[in-house]
Amino acid sequence: MNKVSIIGAGMTGSTAAHWLAEREFADVALVDVVEGMPQGKALDMLEAMPIIGKDVSIVGSNDYAATKNSDVVIITAGIARKPGMSRDDLLKTNAEIVGNAALEALKHSPDAIFIILTNPLDTMAYLAMKKTGLPRERVIGQAGVLDSARMRAFIAMETSVSVENINCYVLGGHGDEMVPLTRHSNIAGVPLNEYIAADRLHAIVERTRKGGGEVINLLKTGSAFYAPSAALAQMTEAILKDKHLIVPASAYVTGEYGLNDMYFGVPVQLGRGGMERIIEYSLNDDEKAMLQKSAAAVRETHDALKNLVGLG
Ligand code: NAI
Ligand code: 2OP
Repeated sequence: MNKVSIIGAGMTGSTAAHWLAEREFADVALVDVVEGMPQGKALDMLEAMPIIGKDVSIVGSNDYAATKNSDVVIITAGIARKPGMSRDDLLKTNAEIVGNAALEALKHSPDAIFIILTNPLDTMAYLAMKKTGLPRERVIGQAGVLDSARMRAFIAMETSVSVENINCYVLGGHGDEMVPLTRHSNIAGVPLNEYIAADRLHAIVERTRKGGGEVINLLKTGSAFYAPSAALAQMTEAILKDKHLIVPASAYVTGEYGLNDMYFGVPVQLGRGGMERIIEYSLNDDEKAMLQKSAAAVRETHDALKNLVGLG
């Protein structure tokens, strides 16, 4: 059985554990700083397994020794965004938490692929790669699967077509400048603009860009966790099963899309080696301009991080 460790057993971490265990994808170790909480959640989840007939081990711990020999390490540890708080406000606190979590987890699982969720996402993925010194294939950030799923859900609501027929690609940084690529998105192969009036499509693009904030404002405390953790589970499955699945995700770019030395949302292929390759879409001038604007926002946070923690 494969093993997945999740650092941060809060809302997204424990819900990701639930998706993974429910589908029998892997044994799961949950680690958190709060005493008893990961142990309690793991035990409760384990006790659900006889009911759904799944044979997986689920353990909770405050000690990284429990993560030993993981195939995939997911990092969700950190502070969640609160109403009125930008993702970048989280930078300082989460940089310390994520940097430490990545280093500790790597000690116990030297061959693991790392998936980062903690915000500000692109910059936390950058930090994890720089801190660990791992190659870019082994550190991937989750954002695009979630942002694209939000757009797919909104289009399904608008058109009453199955979500399975709706393909959307949201690239760029995981922030309000993200880039929903309407021209590359389709409903069973038919371009979106043949199904949906321009003003409605524009509204869906805007709602997608603010999708995280919409849930935060409704919840009042904490942020989205069902869809983000489902995205983590899909990426983990693609890696463990060596599916060569193409999804939008945050990856370290070395010239792709004209960008260098940063994590950014691009289409990637996921398999057993992690991020196997970045796919370059052909973009028109408007799309290129939107990506550049989003990249500038991400670059700003990367620069803030570098000033803060002195990364090279
Ligand atoms: P949460 O507050 O429910 O869980 C975070 C957990 O991290 C808590 O249980 C906390 O005790 C734990 N933690 C804090 N410091 C730790 C440390 N040093 N070591 C181990 N665990 C530690 O928050 P939630 O909702 O799970 O979100 C987690 C992070 O993921 C936040 O930064 C949030 O903004 C981000 N996020 C990112 C998304 C994305 O698409 N990239 C989507 C959803 C959330
Ligand atoms: C989201 O998009 C909070 O980044 C998180 O839901």
